[in-house]
Amino acid sequence: MLAAAAVRTDANDPLGCLEVGERPDPQAPDGWATVRLRAASLNHHDLWSLQGVGLPDDRLPMVLGCDGAGVDEEGNEVVVHAIVGDPDFRGDETLDPRRTLLSEKHDGTLADLVVVPRRNLVPKPADLSFEEASCLPTAWLTAYRMLFTQGALRPGQTVLVQGAGGGVSTALVAIGSAAGLRMWVTSRDEAKGKRALELGADQAFESGARLPERVDAVMETVGEPTWDHTLKSLAPGGVVVVTGATGGHRAVTDLRRVFFLQQRIVGSTMGTRDELVRLMRFLAETGVRPVVDSTLPLEEAAEGFRRLADGDVFGKIVLTRPA
Ligand SMILES: NC(=O)c1ccc[n+]([C@@H]2O[C@H](COP(=O)([O-])OP(=O)(O)OC[C@H]3O[C@@H](n4cnc5c(N)ncnc54)[C@H](OP(=O)(O)O)[C@@H]3O)[C@@H](O)[C@H]2O)c1
Repeated sequence: MLAAAAVRTDANDPLGCLEVGERPDPQAPDGWATVRLRAASLNHHDLWSLQGVGLPDDRLPMVLGCDGAGVDEEGNEVVVHAIVGDPDFRGDETLDPRRTLLSEKHDGTLADLVVVPRRNLVPKPADLSFEEASCLPTAWLTAYRMLFTQGALRPGQTVLVQGAGGGVSTALVAIGSAAGLRMWVTSRDEAKGKRALELGADQAFESGARLPERVDAVMETVGEPTWDHTLKSLAPGGVVVVTGATGGHRAVTDLRRVFFLQQRIVGSTMGTRDELVRLMRFLAETGVRPVVDSTLPLEEAAEGFRRLADGDVFGKIVLTRPA
């Protein structure tokens, strides 16, 4: 099968570690299903993998990709839930200490075929294209959990999203505004801020700008470059939901601000299969659709990775396979 894989890792040259070529077809163990992929979307996670974050050398080569949608052996159109956990674990699978994401321990979705535990298959809604559906399991599910589960936000509250162009940021704005939240964004790029307004954001600001008022919640995926602004922008009693640190993870926190203003800092990772099902229902009810920046054939994966690494993206880059 054709696949895009990490064949080595290098923190300074991730794109040089990507190989797009033929790999052996995967064999599904008992209880697992084989999905013929039609679309798979890129995430920053794939770049981290190529840099060796969460991907030790003894697991190479590894087919990349957390997100995919395709057709199972019985002809059902499915979306692939990306968390593979301990089959005996009960409860919220994002809390399973043995969980991994596709492409961390098991080959991922940037391929013709992927094998996953059968329970990871979720029926694809007919009104979502394969390309749209392939955006959901990581970035969009993460955004859904950040807002509603970890943030526990209510319609009418004001939410600041740090960064406008990323897969998670665009999902936060689209989902949050459709849910009646007042969504504000920051961006390093005025053009991306404008696109966020078209997507439903109420206001867009330059990164680090002073806001007209403090917000109820901040959605943080950038990390070090925005952390100080995040805490300064948060109203007393507000919540920061942290799900990533693209710009660095060693941010300095003024603890006096945290305790005096009773700020809450909450982590969030991916989402459960049940949340993925609810996200799809939310899209069906609201008509909101994933923001696809561009679609490329899998053969051109390197170009998609280059654009992701350059930050030259608004929404998701999707890699496709023919039917
Ligand atoms: N914990 C989880 O389960 C989970 C799930 C999904 C993603 N993540 C993490 O969340 C992060 C975002 O993921 P993604 O796929 O959406 O990545 P992405 O598409 O590469 O997005 C990067 C975002 O960060 C902003 N940004 C990057 N560098 C910045 C800087 N120096 N200063 C200010 N803003 C900066 C960009 O905003 P502008 O270009 O508009 O300024 C953009 O919105 C990644 O670190 C990823 O690993 C974690």
